[in-house]
Amino acid sequence: MSKQCRLAVVGATGAVGREMLSTLAARKFPATSVTALASARSAGNKAPFADGELTVRELTAESFKDIDLAIFSAGGGTSEQFAPHAVAAGCVVVDNSSAWRMDDRCPLVVPEVNAHALDKHRGIIANPNCSTIQMVVALKPLHDAARIRRVVVSTYQAVSGTGQKAITELETQVRQLFNMQEPEIKVYPHRIAFNCLPHIDVFLENDYTKEEMKMTRETVKIMEDPKIAVTATCVRVPVFYGHSESVNIETEKKLTPAQARAILSQAPGVQVYDNPGQKMYPMPLDAAGEDAVFVGRLREDESIANGLNMWIVADNIRKGAALNAVQIAEELLARNLLRVQDRNAFLA
Ligand code: A2P
Repeated sequence: MSKQCRLAVVGATGAVGREMLSTLAARKFPATSVTALASARSAGNKAPFADGELTVRELTAESFKDIDLAIFSAGGGTSEQFAPHAVAAGCVVVDNSSAWRMDDRCPLVVPEVNAHALDKHRGIIANPNCSTIQMVVALKPLHDAARIRRVVVSTYQAVSGTGQKAITELETQVRQLFNMQEPEIKVYPHRIAFNCLPHIDVFLENDYTKEEMKMTRETVKIMEDPKIAVTATCVRVPVFYGHSESVNIETEKKLTPAQARAILSQAPGVQVYDNPGQKMYPMPLDAAGEDAVFVGRLREDESIANGLNMWIVADNIRKGAALNAVQIAEELLARNLLRVQDRNAFLA
């Protein structure tokens, strides 16, 4: 490590925050100190870290005085309010919420795809949406080889993407249903147990959900190619961990499934798991707790000239959130980019 890295995790008590702490410890992130921050509700509680635990402190505008790097995973409102204070204190922010992703001042980074975008950061780096991360990790090497022109994606997203309260809601509803009780519905607009909800985040004026439009816009920003057209349907399913995606791509150059398989087996962060004869294909049960993005069911789209279908699965809390953020932090250190050029860049 070239310089001191005093690290803070904002939202350390949440589903992603806890995974963040465990990923930092597992990857031996070279922090000189780690501070756990959350809301006043959690102040004084303990958060497990490495072989010990951290005492959680309340997040305030003053929290970043002695911090070099803060990883935020505490929702968009918290990031909007507090990330500018962090930058003003000279602290670099990696933010897991959607608050800064489409801001031109903020690189939106998946290290396997566009780590170079970090070089121009101004203090806040955005971690993309979980569904987008796993898709672009698999699509970028195919794009480099054959120029993707259109992507049609349908997602099957786990409840952990909504946070700890949604994990609890699915558990509780399953228990209530098995006990012949009326399931309580608090987090989602409808029952999630034994159901699928084609509704993630809010509906927009064009009748897409915000999650669907995140996939469209973030993919173009990360892949740095406005010619890639993306249309998405995002569905919440009663799975605890692991997002699955059915992805159809249309390319400029012809790419056979065998060529795509060969390219993907060399691609960073990707694991090809594709042997239909042996009933081998990626599943969220297997992807949970793993770092890789798994790709299978690779086959030609026989309805168009240059089309491929595939099935992409990853742990949404790991590669889709905590791991990607920690990889960004590692890349910032490796590139010696742990500095803020303009402390006022994000102050209103
Ligand atoms: P807390 O546990 O104190 O509410 P999840 O995505 O699993 O719901 O987790 C959200 C995380 O963001 C939690 O750590 C939560 O802390 C934190 N959080 C939510 N609102 C705030 C806030 N206003 N200030 C600081 N942390 C917040």
